[in-house]
Amino acid sequence: MQTDVHRIRCSRRHREDVCRLGGESETRRRVEEVEEFVIKISHRKLLGTEEEEEKGKEENDKEDEFAIDPYFFDDGYSVAATTGFARVWEGASVFTDFLVQECPNLTLRKNVVELGSGVGLCGVAVAIANEANVTLTDLPSVVEGVLRQNITQNSTSLTENGWHRVIGPQGGLARAVALNWEKPMDCHHLTASEKYIDAVDVIIAAECIWLADLLDCFCETLNILFEREKKLRSRTPQCFICCRDRSRKDSKVKIFASEEMVEAAFSRHALAFDVMREFPSTIEQNRCVKIYSLSKK
Ligand SMILES: C[S@@+](CC[C@H](N)C(=O)[O-])C[C@H]1O[C@@H](n2cnc3c(N)ncnc32)[C@H](O)[C@@H]1O
Repeated sequence: MQTDVHRIRCSRRHREDVCRLGGESETRRRVEEVEEFVIKISHRKLLGTEEEEEKGKEENDKEDEFAIDPYFFDDGYSVAATTGFARVWEGASVFTDFLVQECPNLTLRKNVVELGSGVGLCGVAVAIANEANVTLTDLPSVVEGVLRQNITQNSTSLTENGWHRVIGPQGGLARAVALNWEKPMDCHHLTASEKYIDAVDVIIAAECIWLADLLDCFCETLNILFEREKKLRSRTPQCFICCRDRSRKDSKVKIFASEEMVEAAFSRHALAFDVMREFPSTIEQNRCVKIYSLSKK
């Protein structure tokens, strides 16, 4: 395992009472404080950086060869899960900055469920910086392999039912729960049981729908969470996700979901979508990380 340090900056604006001297009355001013949090994220040293891998992929495309995955024979191995162990993906870094710096109000002090958390940077950052209660989910092998450890090493104490109080002045809560989109019944314990959180205000997901095969089960999982919340609390959660199109029109391998395939899947599953922001990818030229908001049609 390799451990990297991520520095997350967030600014807080608040009003401060200022008592002026010289008989002037009390005035108020807006104060902006910049806070920095250090988050430790461990991952398996699977491949190089995303940039190195991108370069390797181009070479592989030319030579039509594929590297052998060293974790192929591990318990719980799947190609999809391997991406969860590997690193913080570009979309997760961009999405973390968006949720923490640009739009903290979307998750501030809310009950958040993250799908496909991987190593967990995004969910942990939201718990720390936005004082949210975040349930970070992924396949069981990823939860046990990296996610649980990453929550623990950014926490100060364990509270009840697997919730950890995360670092930070007001620190929110974070916990890891296994949730496989191909087993939709797993979703029920996220909203139904008293032992778990009793509400889902916001669903987030970074870089989860890059494989064409995952589109339908991911959208079905969103729908189950939307429907359960609607039934239990007569309202549907807000949902924000980000993805980067990794498909190549000229590639022989058609496993990656293109932007068109992603948006068609949203429509197929009656999910209304809105593109909130687009950030140019720093890894692949002419590509971008798109942030969507999704709701039930
Ligand atoms: C590209 S990684 C993104 C991880 C993390 N959100 C990030 O951006 O750094 C995709 C994630 O989806 C998870 N995943 C894939 N198939 C899944 C499934 N059927 N159920 C739940 N999670 C799944 C993987 O384990 C992995 O963590």
